[in-house]
Amino acid sequence: IDTTPRLFGMPLKYVSLITLAIQNAALALIMHYSRISTPPDKKYSAATAVLLVELLKGSISFCIAYHRVDEHGARTQPPQQQNFPRKAAKEGFLGDVCRRVGCVTERLGRLRREVFSPDCWKLSIPAILYVIQNNLQYIAASNLSAATFQVTYQMKILTTAFFSVVLLRRQLSRAKWASLCALALGVGIVQIQSGDAGAKVGGGGMLEGASEMHPLTGLTAVLCACFTSGLAGVYFEMVLKGSHADLWVRNVQLSLFSIVPALVPIFVSPSSFSPSSSPSTHSSSPPPSPPSPSTHGILQTAFANFTPSAYLTILTQVLGGLLTAIVIKHADNILKGFATSLSIILAFLVGMLAFGERATAGFVGGAGVVLVATWVYNRGEGARREGSGSGREVVVFD
Ligand code: C5P
Repeated sequence: IDTTPRLFGMPLKYVSLITLAIQNAALALIMHYSRISTPPDKKYSAATAVLLVELLKGSISFCIAYHRVDEHGARTQPPQQQNFPRKAAKEGFLGDVCRRVGCVTERLGRLRREVFSPDCWKLSIPAILYVIQNNLQYIAASNLSAATFQVTYQMKILTTAFFSVVLLRRQLSRAKWASLCALALGVGIVQIQSGDAGAKVGGGGMLEGASEMHPLTGLTAVLCACFTSGLAGVYFEMVLKGSHADLWVRNVQLSLFSIVPALVPIFVSPSSFSPSSSPSTHSSSPPPSPPSPSTHGILQTAFANFTPSAYLTILTQVLGGLLTAIVIKHADNILKGFATSLSIILAFLVGMLAFGERATAGFVGGAGVVLVATWVYNRGEGARREGSGSGREVVVFD
């Protein structure tokens, strides 16, 4: 029996991979635009954005986990429900309300036990890594063109493969290693040829003047983010597939452990993340007075300058986080990397259609290499991993 989960008749694995590719392309453009379109003294706080993403993602995951709690929990009816129709008729409206409240309490109790399970601490490691990574992404997007950021960030495919082999003891065939190298090559070709045109596709070309960029800072941030992406992604996969715990419960745990590290930069040093912190804007004027130490003052600073594009960035990141979790569950981290590398091509195509960019021979060649590498990596994958999406596959790690 084919137990592969499907959406609109297509395996969820492919739907989520395609959607993730589109989300990645959109995020690089929107995040870059949101950071670069305003002068430095009007930038929204990246630390607050990271916190909001975690809160929103955690809340959505909690709702899904609550909805699913009966599916994977005990299926026996609670005692007060067993002869409900007769009892409810007897007790009327009040009885009905009491029964519903009892049901909710019972479900919440079961969910609480799952979320605070003895092994929940394992999620603290990817949670901290992801918070660092999400902050680094903002630094990179503020200092590199969208295209350069997007292409350089693809190096996370190699760090992911490395950690998959080291932590998951995953064995990659020679063909898969070759396709990984080909992918890096394809990405490199796209990057070299995209140079100037890429910056325009990234939406940065006409906006670079609004905010100064520091390529070395951006490059350092993106390389560190590649490292955390590989490690956190593979670690999350290891925890997820090493137990029968529900994906959405794991996501709630991840968000819960993210809250404290996400709050630290806001509360410890609000001025360094605040819009008034840029040294360039105050070079000729007296230094700004230190922000109010009160919680109210910190919150005011933290939520200043949130433009519609900032909120759109946050929503796109939330979508990306949820999709990433689904992809890691139903496919794996390396396949996720291939999907996101396709997003470069997607972003370029959007640039061609929307901004009239012309595809160069280098781009077509690089994109072709990426597509062939993706196809080679995927060959035979479907048959071998059959059933992995059923939720019953448990990989044992020692
Ligand atoms: O760049 P990368 O693919 O590593 O980014 C993954 C993103 O997905 C991060 O922003 C991370 O916070 C998010 N994520 C999530 N839930 C998971 C796994 C990743 O929100 N279970």
